[in-house]
Amino acid sequence: MANVVVVGAQWGDEGKGKIVDWLSERADIVARFQGGHNAGHTLVVDGTVYKLHALPSGVVRGGKLSVIGNGVVLDPWHLLSEIATLRDQGVEITPDTLMIAENTPLILPFHGALDRAREAASQAGTKIGTTGRGIGPAYEDKVGRRAVRVGDLADRDVLAARIDRALVHHDALQRGLGMGPVDRDALIADLLAIATDVLPFAGPVWKRMDDARRAGRRILFEGAQGALLDIDFGTYPFVTSSNVIAGQAATGVGLGPGAIDFVLGIVKAYTTRVGEGPFPTELLDEDGQRLGERGHEFGTTTGRKRRCGWFDAALVRQTVATSGMTGIALTKLDVLDGFARLKLCVGYDLDGTRLDHLPTAAEAQARCVPVYEEMEGWSDSTEGARSWNDLPGAAVKYVRRVEELVRCPVALLSTSPEREDTILVTDPFED
Ligand code: IMP
Repeated sequence: MANVVVVGAQWGDEGKGKIVDWLSERADIVARFQGGHNAGHTLVVDGTVYKLHALPSGVVRGGKLSVIGNGVVLDPWHLLSEIATLRDQGVEITPDTLMIAENTPLILPFHGALDRAREAASQAGTKIGTTGRGIGPAYEDKVGRRAVRVGDLADRDVLAARIDRALVHHDALQRGLGMGPVDRDALIADLLAIATDVLPFAGPVWKRMDDARRAGRRILFEGAQGALLDIDFGTYPFVTSSNVIAGQAATGVGLGPGAIDFVLGIVKAYTTRVGEGPFPTELLDEDGQRLGERGHEFGTTTGRKRRCGWFDAALVRQTVATSGMTGIALTKLDVLDGFARLKLCVGYDLDGTRLDHLPTAAEAQARCVPVYEEMEGWSDSTEGARSWNDLPGAAVKYVRRVEELVRCPVALLSTSPEREDTILVTDPFED
């Protein structure tokens, strides 16, 4: 019996939704452990399309517990609207099927406003390209020890004290950005108005997870974003504000590191990125255009066009290491169908020096010129392949080379958005 963490191995949007959905069917608990509603997962179950941002993918499948852990930052208004949308689609969400950690920090309206104001005020080259959802400011308040947390909604006086503490900081900041002070009383009233809808889901997640683990329940930890957006190991400062890497799964729900048995990294067969920041293998030519069109590379959360480029094996080798990946799920191989030649980045040239990993500073990252290895492409379609025999020889070679370069075996190969179109090598839950 294994507990599995799913993490994106690149800059997010690797196609986690399908894999998480496939795994969640056999999990007892599906837990989000970081990020917020900056994430976007599209699930297609029996022909119905579900768009999830804050809720774990497990919610659309009955009979299991979905968990929002303390490592997440939660916008309570967004939460309630996401729940309402899913209920309209016939999904049952009750305190029996959804539990939210009472120590989860809240994203409040002034966080979103600050996020957007700061981005708007940034000069070219310093913008992060955030989703504008207030994720960064909410995490800042958490580590600044002035967050309002889910459990604080239960008591008017406690809530007022927390808001006052936060506003000492935020009113000063807002004034500095030319915005008026926050309307304290209105904010408290707005929060109290939704408290009765949110609180039934709140509780000590760490305890529930401990009980579940002792009872041998299968836990699926659902990562959001990708390891290159990790606050410590990503392309800082062009990153999100949480730890995205697999180690966070334990901290983000209140379990010890021994709770994680299998780390599945989701790896797209090429590379994409939304938002600003270095991207060594980015293609600004027809090839990049073609990857974007064939791969439908538009953001689920913001609708932004994703930047596209060749597969960067050096970067994935790095995230395999920082997340301790046990296996990878390779997705969207079919997008590469029909390219005569394919390039894989195996390292970088930085001012005449050959590197096998991306340097830490953004300025140096931006100067890195990819060192490519070329491979022959394939003209046959790989879309919908369900066994290795269905794949052209050149595609198998590409996959094998990816495994070698990133130093991690393929556990799953996904060949279309349909969940059956998967080649299974190792079942993470049974490993
Ligand atoms: P934030 O998380 O909104 O602060 O945005 C920080 C960076 O992370 C930006 O480059 C975003 O485009 C990126 N980002 C955040 N969430 C996702 C995601 O789910 N997929 C891809 N990129 C994301």
